[in-house]
Parts: sequence; C-alpha cells; structure tokens
Amino acid sequence: MSGTVGVGGAHRGPPLPVYRHPTEADHRALVDDIERWFGGRRMRPLFGRMWFVHFASTSWVAETAEGRIAAILLGFASPDRPKEAVVHLAAVDPNLRRRGIGSAVHRTWLAGMAQRGATRAIVAVPPDERVAVLFYRSLGFEPELAGATPLWGVPAFADYDADGVDRALFTRRIEPAG
Ligand SMILES: CC(C)(COP(=O)(O)OP(=O)(O)OC[C@H]1O[C@@H](n2cnc3c(N)ncnc32)[C@H](O)[C@@H]1OP(=O)(O)O)[C@@H](O)C(=O)NCCC(=O)NCCS
Repeated sequence: MSGTVGVGGAHRGPPLPVYRHPTEADHRALVDDIERWFGGRRMRPLFGRMWFVHFASTSWVAETAEGRIAAILLGFASPDRPKEAVVHLAAVDPNLRRRGIGSAVHRTWLAGMAQRGATRAIVAVPPDERVAVLFYRSLGFEPELAGATPLWGVPAFADYDADGVDRALFTRRIEPAG
C-alpha cells in the first residue's frame, strides 16, 4: 500500500486525518516531542532517523488538515520471518487521543502489511503500560502465552530486552488482502 489514504466513512466534526508514509522531515518534526507522547519514557534511542529513511514504506503517519502530525507508527516486515509484521513503536499526539486515530493508523498499517503477504502482526508492550495493553487488546491482539508469566496482570516475559525490561508480546492474525 502506498500514497495517501483517508480512513473512515460518514463522519461529522473536525476533518479526519489523512494517513501517509513518513518522510525524513517528519523525523525532525517529531523527535523532540516523542518522549512527551510516551509520557516521559526514554524513546529517542528507538526513534532514529533511519526509521524514516529505511522503513518509511512500512510505516505511517496521520496528518491533520492543518498539516500537524497526529500519530506515528514505525513498523516493518520481518526479514527473517516474512509472514510476520512488527510494530516497532506507535503513538498518538496526547491531545488527539480517544478519537480512533491510533486504531485507524494501525488498521492502515495492517492492510499494507497484508498486501505484502504478512499473516501475523506482533508488538512488544511493557506490561505495566495499561493503556497500551488495553489499546492492543481492543485491536484484537492477544498476549503470547507460551512461556509467559503474569506481570502486572498480563502474560509477559521478565527481562525480555534487558534486566528489568519486561515485555508482553501481543500478536494477532492479519486477514489476507482482499
Ligand atoms: C496507545 C495509543 C496509541 C492509543 O491511541 P488512541 O488514538 O488514543 O486510541 P483509540 O482512540 O484508537 O482507542 C482505541 C481503543 O483503545 C482503548 N483505549 C485507548 N486509550 C485508552 C485509555 N486511556 N484507557 C482505556 N482504554 C483505552 C479503548 O478500548 C479504545 O476504544 P474506545 O475509545 O472506543 O473505548 C495512545 O494512547 C498512545 O500514543 N500512548 C502512548 C504511546 C504508547 O503506549 N504506544 C503503544 C506502545 S508502542
């Protein structure tokens, strides 16, 4: 999937964002704000410019009618597991949450990954990030159970990425492109 897409049907209220692939300029526009979008979590090391250069075609931004970035999803198709699509990071402008933008940018991404032949989507979420856990559950993602232990009430893996860096692995099926 490429180019710019609108998401949604009949709609009243402010114009819906459009969804497009990011450009390198979007990195500059977002990098100083991304940690605020993640509630102060240290995210800059995960938000390198390379994502906007080498993974733009598998990533999306939502842009408001005023040209403001409302959401970002950095993702990729696994080179080693071609049927798997991975969300590296996703966030919505804190002032534009609970309007369905996070869901829409994920649906747009899932459709693009289906066109590439992916059948499974994966995202690693800190189990103590309650909103992220609820959000991915709302999109039909389920936590990986095999080998997991309950952390913060979520089946998760202790020290998954490093000592003290626990992760729940949320996955869902991707429907084939129609
Ligand atoms: C998680 C995040 C992307 C959700 O974006 P959003 O645009 O607000 O999400 P949506 O409006 O599409 O919400 C979809 C559903 O998720 C759940 N949800 C989202 N935010 C929630 C909250 N604060 N509390 C409880 N449930 C929530 C709800 O089920 C919601 O549906 P509803 O509004 O009809 O009840 C956003 O909160 C965010 O950027 N958080 C910080 C970064 C982050 O944690 N990213 C995910 C891990 S990489």
